[in-house]
This record gives sequence, structure tokens and C-alpha cells, in this order.
Amino acid sequence: MHSLIIFASGTGSNAKKIIEYFEDNDQVEIVGVFSNNNQAPVLKMAENKDIKTFSFDRNSFYKSDDVLHILKEINPDLIILAGFMWIVPERMIDSFPNKIINIHPSLLPKYGGKGMYGNRVHKAVLANRESETGISIHYVNKYYDEGKLIAQFKINLSPDDDLEKVVEKIHKLEHANYAKVIEQLLLSK
Ligand code: GRF
Repeated sequence: MHSLIIFASGTGSNAKKIIEYFEDNDQVEIVGVFSNNNQAPVLKMAENKDIKTFSFDRNSFYKSDDVLHILKEINPDLIILAGFMWIVPERMIDSFPNKIINIHPSLLPKYGGKGMYGNRVHKAVLANRESETGISIHYVNKYYDEGKLIAQFKINLSPDDDLEKVVEKIHKLEHANYAKVIEQLLLSK
């Protein structure tokens, strides 16, 4: 049995897709959804699916070892960041080497780094009149969006794609691929 933990800060559409993808898989269990925002819709969604949820504040994430302690007790095979907005502390990364992964809505190393998240990424892509964009799934290290790449998926942009269209295309690409990449990683472990 493989166990997964998901970290998310907001809506959690990727978290939802991952949960649904593994719902009928008796080899993979989502053992918890963690959020830095106790009002995050992702927590309600997980509770409705009978998945344990944990919310935490800055102090228990960065200053104390409260969250790290829970993670160590669960000892998941992978920790999945899906729209999680905080940088992961180094001691957490060191405790789970090659086990924390993230999804970023651009073709890294382009449009990554501090301050590059959500619509800011897509606005920059459109401003530069890129002909393609995509998503990157990567291991997490102590720098924003700089960990080793696991997989990338591309889409073409047409000149009349606006922000709304790019957001829609990227989400579609994420939803179609994140859970599959997670499954492949688990199989290779
Ligand atoms: C996704 O676009 C992901 O690439 C980024 O945050 C967004 C989360 O969206 N890291 P959602 O909450 O899963 O809808």
C-alpha cells in the first residue's frame, strides 16, 4: 500500500482530481490533506470524502516541529503539493528526500521563482507573446520552483488566447497529468 499526503492552500481542484483518480485504487491511499488555511475549500472537499484534514499556522509549520512531527508519524510515500503557497522548510525537505513534489503552471525554469504563482505566471506568458506554455512537475527543494524536474507537458497558445483561456488550458493539462505522474513515481519506488 502506498500512502499520499496532499498540501493545498485554496480551491484544490488538483487535489480533488488526485483524490478521485486513486479513489478505486486499493494500492494507493490519500491519508491526509493539509492546509495553511483553515477556511480553504480543499479541506471541506476532503472531509466530504472522509479524508483526514489538518490545518496549521505559520508557527507550527516554520517555528515548531508540530507539522513535521505529524508527517513523520504518518511517514507517507509521497507528499504532494497542489496549489500550496508556502515554501517548505528545509528540515521538512531533509526529512523526506525525493518525496515532496510540486506542480507549477509554466515550463520551468521559465516563469518560476518567488512571486511567480497563479495568474501572475499566465499574465507574464501572455505579455511575452509566448507561442507555448505548459506545466512542470518537480521535486521540491528549499528554493521556489528550482527542484529537479520530473515531467513537463506543453500546450500551444494561439494569438487570441486570453488570460481566462490560458488558465482553463493549464488547469485541464494539470488535471489530466498530475495524478498519472504520481502513480508512475509510486510504481518506480
Ligand atoms: C495550479 O495551477 C498549480 O499549478 C499551482 O497552483 C494552482 C492550484 O490550483 N501550483 P488548484 O487549487 O488545484 O485549483
